Amino acid sequence: MLKSCGRKLLLSLLGSTFTCLLVLMMDQQKRQVLELGGEGALQSPGDPTGLTQQQPEGEAGEQSPEEVKSFTDYFSKLTRVRREAAGGPAAQGGAGRQRPPLEEISARDVFIAVKTTKKFHRSRLELLLDTWISRNKDMTFIFTDGEDEQLKKRTGNIINTNCSAAHSRQALSCKMAVEYDKFIESGRKWFCHVDDDNYVNVRTLVKLLSGYPHTQDIYIGKPSLDRPIQATERISENKMHPVHFWFATGGAGFCISRGLALKMSPWASGGHFMSTAEKIRLPDDCTIGYIIESVLGVKLIRSNLFHSHLENLHQVPKTEIHNQVTLSYGMFENKRNSIHMKGAFSVEEDPSRFRSIHCLLYPDTPWCPPNVVY
Ligand SMILES: *[C@@H]1O[C@H](CO)[C@@H](O)[C@H](O)[C@H]1NC(C)=O
Repeated sequence: MLKSCGRKLLLSLLGSTFTCLLVLMMDQQKRQVLELGGEGALQSPGDPTGLTQQQPEGEAGEQSPEEVKSFTDYFSKLTRVRREAAGGPAAQGGAGRQRPPLEEISARDVFIAVKTTKKFHRSRLELLLDTWISRNKDMTFIFTDGEDEQLKKRTGNIINTNCSAAHSRQALSCKMAVEYDKFIESGRKWFCHVDDDNYVNVRTLVKLLSGYPHTQDIYIGKPSLDRPIQATERISENKMHPVHFWFATGGAGFCISRGLALKMSPWASGGHFMSTAEKIRLPDDCTIGYIIESVLGVKLIRSNLFHSHLENLHQVPKTEIHNQVTLSYGMFENKRNSIHMKGAFSVEEDPSRFRSIHCLLYPDTPWCPPNVVY
């Protein structure tokens, strides 16, 4: 009797110890997987300077190889599932993926600044007014450097910055300063800057921005370099200080949330943008990156959906054209550079491809030929 009782006690003790061990092991495993899953999706929190490059999703960060190995299978499956759930192809990094809408916004909430110069009113701006701007007149503001009565007849939102028409650093910063001030004045939720050789797909732009809260610090675009830019900031008359930071290239377009734009005010509003640009002696788009990353410590969110003429535009897949946020055309490595597509018009009729792209996105446009096969 006593013997059997003792055996039962021993068995139950063994059983509960085993269960306890099992629970502990599972908990430890779960914690490690969670730690792994948190890495790489965004910038590592241990890097306040923002100098390290964002790791591609799926990389294991600073875990030791042994730790990584035992969870590699599980983790890669987890990442794949997450990617599939996000709905974007794995090749599109950062904000290339679709995010579920966080905030219902419309085109009216976005302020798009198009930077141009009088010389390009006919050759570049007319094309934009015929295509994407024609569908989005209320949200698009053209920043130029000369009066043009003919242009004013086509759209009300022409702003003469009174800046110099030179392509100098000072003239470009002067325009960016006016863009910033007009955006703050407008009260809108998002500021986006593009150049006069960009096609903006406003539908995908609004979709992208609705994945982020406009009240928080959001800076989104595509870096033109594969490393942070090195610069020196002038602290005083003869004191310089090295800085490095990422910036989104202005030629591909970028966006800034209102929450962040308001924080930039001491370095960007009124005449301050010009003096900030002088302090680091860099162009307008770099100065924006300097204020956001270096001064405010907010990191650039990379998106592959923005495109400038300084990348090979032939590489945008035909099936993905309608998903991009900005496109461009021009010269790249001494060759004509544009989106490669069959489209409604021939390359001779439509060298920028913007008319063909517009007909792909808005086939009901009166001047688009019917029944085009893409
Ligand atoms: C440019 O100058 C004109 C004429 O003086 C003025 O009306 C306009 O407000 C100025 N533009 C800006 C952006 O300051």
